[in-house]
Amino acid sequence: MRFAGKKVLVTGAASGIGRATALLFAREGAMLTIGDINEAGLAETAAMIGGTVRAVPYDAEDHASCRALVEAASANGLDVLCNVAGMLKWGPTATYAVEDFERLLRINTTSVFVLCQAALPHLLATKGNIVCVASTAGLSGIPYSVAYSASKHAVVGMIKSMALEYAAAGVRINGVCPGQVATPMTRAAPPQGEIDWPLVMRNVPKLADGICDPEDIAEALAFLASDASRKTTGALLAVDGGQLAG
Ligand SMILES: NC(=O)c1ccc[n+]([C@@H]2O[C@H](COP(=O)([O-])OP(=O)(O)OC[C@H]3O[C@@H](n4cnc5c(N)ncnc54)[C@H](O)[C@@H]3O)[C@@H](O)[C@H]2O)c1
Repeated sequence: MRFAGKKVLVTGAASGIGRATALLFAREGAMLTIGDINEAGLAETAAMIGGTVRAVPYDAEDHASCRALVEAASANGLDVLCNVAGMLKWGPTATYAVEDFERLLRINTTSVFVLCQAALPHLLATKGNIVCVASTAGLSGIPYSVAYSASKHAVVGMIKSMALEYAAAGVRINGVCPGQVATPMTRAAPPQGEIDWPLVMRNVPKLADGICDPEDIAEALAFLASDASRKTTGALLAVDGGQLAG
């Protein structure tokens, strides 16, 4: 019961890593608010949790919607913000539409900034913390993934910058960098056309059965959000089966 009585907001909770994170925090006593654009998936997660959970639909592309989500989650204070929502769109750089690039950055990057900015006054009051889901794509390049990798490198930069800015005030900000995780996102359509597949596949998990389950990533979020990591801020925890090891 690492989060007994703690008020926790999890975004992206309709699916994959966000759902697994919400379920884990709920099992450990958190008072949860869950957000996602997918209302049906969000309702499913709420039903899986049972008990009291506040399900708030929001659109990460819409700043006002992000702020309203934080407001709903922090009506009685906020201890933890888990930024999980995100999207992936593959494609060769030469033909990647600027509109797709900008949309992906709005969802994966700008929304994280807006949510953190709205949550920080509440986290200052509780000496709470933030955990953002970045990616191995935030620590190394991924071919045919120019927008996604840019968006996650930016999240890594925000984690480190905000961690420095808020450390003296007692608010910790950390990140999890998953490698390949078995979720709907990884099952999305791969890039079409002239793709150098050996280049894409050069950096796969090294552990036997190294592809992560959403629950593996949820455990990392819970560790970083818990008091067990009270001396950890500005850190990036790769959960990638050794993908980044070489
Ligand atoms: N699956 C992987 O291999 C992998 C690897 C590294 C990092 N990640 C990151 O993990 C996070 C979760 O991804 P996942 O694998 O669970 O995928 P997922 O597709 O199962 O979940 C992503 C969730 O984000 C929500 N979302 C998307 N756009 C939104 C919007 N505009 N507003 C609100 N919510 C929106 C979706 O509805 C969905 O529920 C993402 O940030 C992703 O980039 C995933």
